[in-house]
Amino acid sequence: MRIAILAAFMALLTIGGTACADNFPSHPITIVVPFSAGGPTDSMARILGERMQRSLGQTITIENVTGAAGSLGVGRVVRSPPDGYTVSIGHLGTHVANGAIYKLGYDLVTDLEPVVLLPSNPMIIVSKNAVPAKSLKELLTWLKAKPSPPTAGTAGAGSGSHIAGLYFENATGIKLQYVPYRGTAPALNDLVAGQIDIIIDQTSNSISQVRAGTIRAYAVTDDKRVESASDIPTTDEAGLSGFHMTLWSGLWVPKGTPKEVVAKLNGAAVEAMNDPAVRKKFEDLGLQMPAPDELSPDALGAWQKAEIAKWWPMIKAADVKVD
Ligand code: MLT
Repeated sequence: MRIAILAAFMALLTIGGTACADNFPSHPITIVVPFSAGGPTDSMARILGERMQRSLGQTITIENVTGAAGSLGVGRVVRSPPDGYTVSIGHLGTHVANGAIYKLGYDLVTDLEPVVLLPSNPMIIVSKNAVPAKSLKELLTWLKAKPSPPTAGTAGAGSGSHIAGLYFENATGIKLQYVPYRGTAPALNDLVAGQIDIIIDQTSNSISQVRAGTIRAYAVTDDKRVESASDIPTTDEAGLSGFHMTLWSGLWVPKGTPKEVVAKLNGAAVEAMNDPAVRKKFEDLGLQMPAPDELSPDALGAWQKAEIAKWWPMIKAADVKVD
């Protein structure tokens, strides 16, 4: 008897879930950006969200929930109902590195459902204009000669800019003093104002200030130049051979979100990325589009797990301290 009641209850739940999934979305969706407004993750979310609302027929709002290198914003999504109305945007930092650094209170793999891989951002090595160096080699010499460790802006321990900084320290032997912000948008403001020395930033964040001449760019951390900023050399060309890092991003929803809902969100994001106007905006920012076979939810899940296996040992060995 109890089994029959339980079976009927489960059937009701399933019917309820399907009905919700069929109607999805029936009201506005929120994308939680775990960093400051105006930064690279925020810009990507706004460009994508604006186009996704056309496919989904609902408003998409952006909510910036900042702090602890994005882990607070991701936590906000993990604790939301699994119905597709609260979506997490994040990247290698928030959805991989943070699991090796923070006591998160959630599991990045088992508490989230992958939706889609988003464009990747090559990093760019930039300094305040007051730094006298004119090339990457001169920058390295200047940084090494500084009597106190050069200051590097980051979006917190475990953010993209911080992982890039750790990698840079490893590759050059230069010790950096990290200055954490709630995103690289405020870090960039301080670089322009000359308050910090460098950022190893996402290209999409720094590129407009580089073009405006308010900061100096030395190299992009990829094996090919960024088309929309082709005057900036690669690290290979500029003398830091093999120093490559692109920061991939993605969308996730809470675990237990119906598959049909995940598929609808995935379809809208893919449609957005295939729209020539959206592609142009992303490519102007220096972003690289994912390949068609990388766009399924399963592909993002497999990629995230592979990145965890690759990065966690290195990050744990760096023994990153957080307050
Ligand atoms: C941001 O949007 O501020 C970033 O993605 C920060 C980072 O991870 O460096």
